[in-house]
Amino acid sequence: MISQETVNKIFDVVDIVEVISDYVTLKKSGTNYKGLSPFSNEKTPSFMVSPSKGIFKDFSSGKGGNAVGFLMEHEKLSYPEALQYLARKYNIEIEETEMSPEEIQQRNERESLLAVTSYAQKFFTEQLNTAEGKAVGLSYLRQRGFRDDTTRKFQLGYSPEDRKALTNSALKAGYKKEFLVKTGLTIEKEDYVFDRFAGRVIFPIHGISGNVVGFGGRTLKSDKNIAKYLNSPESDIYHKSRILYGLFQAKKSIVSSNRCFLVEGYTDVIALHQAGIGNVVSSSGTALTAEQIRLIKRFTENITVLYDGDEAGLKASFRGIDMILEEGLNVKVVLFPDGEDPDSFSQGRNSSEFIEFIDSHEQDFITFKTEVLISDTKNDPIKRANMITDIVRSVAVIPDGIKRSVFLKECSKLLDTEEAVLYNEVNKIRERRREQAWKKERFRPDQLVVPEQPTVPSFVQNVYSEIEEREIIYFLLKFGNQKLKLSGEENADITVAQYIIREIQNDELEFTNLVYKQVFEDVKAMIDSGREISERVFTFHDSKEVQDLAVDIVTSKYELSNVWKRKESYIELPGENLGVEVPKALLLYKLRVVGMALEDLRKQIGEAEKSREGDLVMELMAHLRDLEGAKNEISTVIGERIILN
Ligand code: CTP
Ligand code: MN
Repeated sequence: MISQETVNKIFDVVDIVEVISDYVTLKKSGTNYKGLSPFSNEKTPSFMVSPSKGIFKDFSSGKGGNAVGFLMEHEKLSYPEALQYLARKYNIEIEETEMSPEEIQQRNERESLLAVTSYAQKFFTEQLNTAEGKAVGLSYLRQRGFRDDTTRKFQLGYSPEDRKALTNSALKAGYKKEFLVKTGLTIEKEDYVFDRFAGRVIFPIHGISGNVVGFGGRTLKSDKNIAKYLNSPESDIYHKSRILYGLFQAKKSIVSSNRCFLVEGYTDVIALHQAGIGNVVSSSGTALTAEQIRLIKRFTENITVLYDGDEAGLKASFRGIDMILEEGLNVKVVLFPDGEDPDSFSQGRNSSEFIEFIDSHEQDFITFKTEVLISDTKNDPIKRANMITDIVRSVAVIPDGIKRSVFLKECSKLLDTEEAVLYNEVNKIRERRREQAWKKERFRPDQLVVPEQPTVPSFVQNVYSEIEEREIIYFLLKFGNQKLKLSGEENADITVAQYIIREIQNDELEFTNLVYKQVFEDVKAMIDSGREISERVFTFHDSKEVQDLAVDIVTSKYELSNVWKRKESYIELPGENLGVEVPKALLLYKLRVVGMALEDLRKQIGEAEKSREGDLVMELMAHLRDLEGAKNEISTVIGERIILN
């Protein structure tokens, strides 16, 4: 447990602007700071930080709180983890209140794992001061050019040859074998245990907030049969695909330089830091993943990939480049001279020499791919055509249409091929991808694509939206009894009607068309009393208008309004994939409601401004922000999750 005194100390010194600036670019705005919400996908900033109050408020998601709350929300840290993070950031020593053995036991699993890795990191680092550690570990690090301050910065260490050194020491200090094994530090065989990393130089791997979550260990032997690096296995705290080596140390510099260098290994990251270049991370031997790219995307949109020039690596790099493009980031590539990697190349060069090399050798991915591939084509027209297709395929994955067309222009020049032809090809590829994505959705019919919908702010009054209301009534009457699967929750079925009613009620919305409203209320009454929806009740309804509507809907074979047909030519028959269609009908309804409410609100604000009603304007402006946030959120979900493009 962290003592209350420490907690107070932390809150005394924390500068919320500084803390949040590590994650969000903030601009001063009056006495506050403003930026783009890190919790939603907004285009106009509605994320506010008040340094005097020590709090933040995100108007687009509704989230708010102090610095600790921000870290918990944004970094998914636990309360103690967030405090630890801040303590480290502000050099505050954490006083822990004494823990009883029971309390140690009570710590949750994740914290136990982190406690073990933290202990192990300190143990390994301290070994650099022992006779063996100095002679073997430290001398190796020095010999390959790492200064002692660099070694300290990355908390490098050494695991003694004695195959029980760490395990015994940790057990003696009260850490449980269970967690030593779960973090992979200790390997357990039937009747004995031993250290995974014995005899290796240790590279601790930090999570984004600075906790040690895993390790890489480099052998000092040149025996080809021994793996050069051993890494921690996957655990509850270490997911290879979601970790980038060096990101913790690089975050700030990535934001300030607005670009991120991506290298292959631990040593490349460290060497560049030592050369004064801090914005560098590595996927450390595993193929780059989309999750890793999204991690970078939180800090910058610009990635420069630094490769050593060997042939095999080059072609393997293509996949990574396509993935970066697909995530919507800008990618440049730098090739190092034969036999050099960023580590070796940086030795003996200072940061400006290094950066100068990068800036003058940086290529966009098209030029890069062309240069790599063209040597294979040797004027063979078929091979040449394949090369062009290959490059066009990379362009096709770029989400932004304007960027695509800029690159196609360049392609056309570089490959001496007509732009229109390339354009055509890109469109074909995109069409095919869209179909595939759509088919994939269809193989899981009726699986709800958006189980939890964004909500409409509660101050929104009923808004007239005839077409969208009818759409929902259509699904209620025609498919109301059909079951939808809630993804993630096993066997948790919900009917179309239950889902619709839940969503409409959550948002406290009411239909404006009185006939639709009547149907909705009746359906709700049926559901509330545990009955199925019976068509007959409606086709024989007291109200003639309800009858007409019900007959219309029940007998319609194909009837979807224009809102559906705008974009997706691939929706053929309604009811084929209710898991997509129903949430979408609701989202389109909400979008309409929010859109109309926005229009109305803007008018009201205009009038209040004219009559100089300051308080009212302020209140309405707050509503405006909420509404715009809701609108962004809804359109994002419609755009990303449902249109699939
Ligand atoms: N790697 C690994 N397991 C191996 C070899 C490599 O996990 N058996 C990962 C490590 O993260 C390593 C990266 O792949 O940092 C790049 O490999 P390599 O270029 O061979 O290593 P370097 O980092 O250059 O290390 P060194 O300079 O010490 O050879
Ligand atoms: Mn190397």
